[in-house]
Amino acid sequence: MKVDVLLGLQWGDEGKGKVVDVLTPGYDLVTRFQGGPNAGHTLEFEGKKFVLRSIPSGIFQGGKINIIGNGVVLDPALFKSEIDALEVSGHPLTERLKISKKAHLILPTHRLLDAAYESAKGSGKIGTTGKGIGPTYTDKVSRNGLRVGDILHNFREKYDAAVARHIEILKQYDFSYNLQELETAWFEGIECTKKFDLIDSEHFINDTMKAGKKVLAEGAQGTMLDIDFGSYPFVTSSNTICAGACTGLGVAPRNIGEVYGIFKAYCTRVGSGPFPTELFDETGDEMRKIGFEFGSVTGRPRRCGWIDLVALKYAVMINGVTQLIMMKSDVMDGFDTIKACVAYELPNGEITRDFPYEIDNVKPVYKKLKRWNVDMTKFNDETQFPRTFKDYIDFLETELETPIGIISIGPDRKQTIVRKK
Ligand code: GDP
Ligand code: IMO
Ligand code: MG
Repeated sequence: MKVDVLLGLQWGDEGKGKVVDVLTPGYDLVTRFQGGPNAGHTLEFEGKKFVLRSIPSGIFQGGKINIIGNGVVLDPALFKSEIDALEVSGHPLTERLKISKKAHLILPTHRLLDAAYESAKGSGKIGTTGKGIGPTYTDKVSRNGLRVGDILHNFREKYDAAVARHIEILKQYDFSYNLQELETAWFEGIECTKKFDLIDSEHFINDTMKAGKKVLAEGAQGTMLDIDFGSYPFVTSSNTICAGACTGLGVAPRNIGEVYGIFKAYCTRVGSGPFPTELFDETGDEMRKIGFEFGSVTGRPRRCGWIDLVALKYAVMINGVTQLIMMKSDVMDGFDTIKACVAYELPNGEITRDFPYEIDNVKPVYKKLKRWNVDMTKFNDETQFPRTFKDYIDFLETELETPIGIISIGPDRKQTIVRKK
């Protein structure tokens, strides 16, 4: 058996949480492979709504095992609040959630460093989620990090040494803080984390595969936020791409199976950085309003624009996507005009369909598509799709040279149409 990977192809918030939940019944094990509580994955079913940050989105379907993999960075304080909220709503997880001992810990001082670095950048700030993601991955790569497995032995000593080092760095910034307050909740989080099975998850996952069971890997963020291939430096600090599932779980490349690439029928971005198809007009406002495009973690309004096929084609290539999943097409149901960016005009006037090194000053070249103007939110079969929507799907499949297997027509679990092969 191989590991199927599900990941975002744009700048995050494509709807990964919803689809992982929908696909979970077909799997035995669901795993997160990178990112941390910068993620906000929304699930809706039976009139309830949940937003998950560090916990995989496979926890609500049929008692499946879920794993927080070694590539994830974990904030014990936020993890505890997530666990507590789920317990209150009747979803105790200690039996079903396991955590890799190799996952790195986000310390309270990592959050402070994140804030200090951002404020020092002034107008050049990344617009991070403020969860300490960058400083934690920095410590991992510079071999200064603390891992979940460390909490089992002499932890206080290691923690104090790491914090002393961070405080030295913070002294260089004009930044005031109250560490004690953060530490109380953080150490409560450490106690909560200890209640879970802390495992060598690479063995667990590979053994599961060997036993003929099915594993789904859930990505966070999106390809355009990847540390290597995204719109650097306005990216997150992990590999959000398919290769990240190999390093973030300990799965060999030859054991990757299906690669599900998720995208919205339009495009959004939170935080700073280039976004070629961004709309600053009423159409952009309309997308935000109808699509309810506000950050699920920070509440920040998301920047909205037309679908960008140059960026999407690049993302399909980098990830080796085998199957596409289109989300939120319902948001476009009532739109008079629908556009797709098919090429970029470079500053020297050249037209390109290849994703360039810089996208700061490219001009999108659009193709106008026929509107469908039908409310599809209650459809349950692809045969109900209007002709013009079918044409839109055909157009995207041709441009991206990849089949679209699932179409999501609303936030609820049930509003999902799996297409016949
Ligand atoms: P994720 O980070 O990729 O899991 O995505 P988010 O949860 O941050 O953002 C996706 C948002 O769109 C959430 O509010 C979902 O409830 C919602 N959503 C997901 N799929 C659809 C869809 O097909 N239509 C509409 N209208 N909303 C959707
Ligand atoms: P999900 O998994 C959208 C963005 C931030 C910022 C940049 C760096 O819900 O799709 P970070 O805190 O990671 O250092 O911030 O990345 N960002 C996201 N945008 N969805 C996310 O996650 C994101 N996680 C980080 O807004 O621009
Ligand atoms: Mg999100």
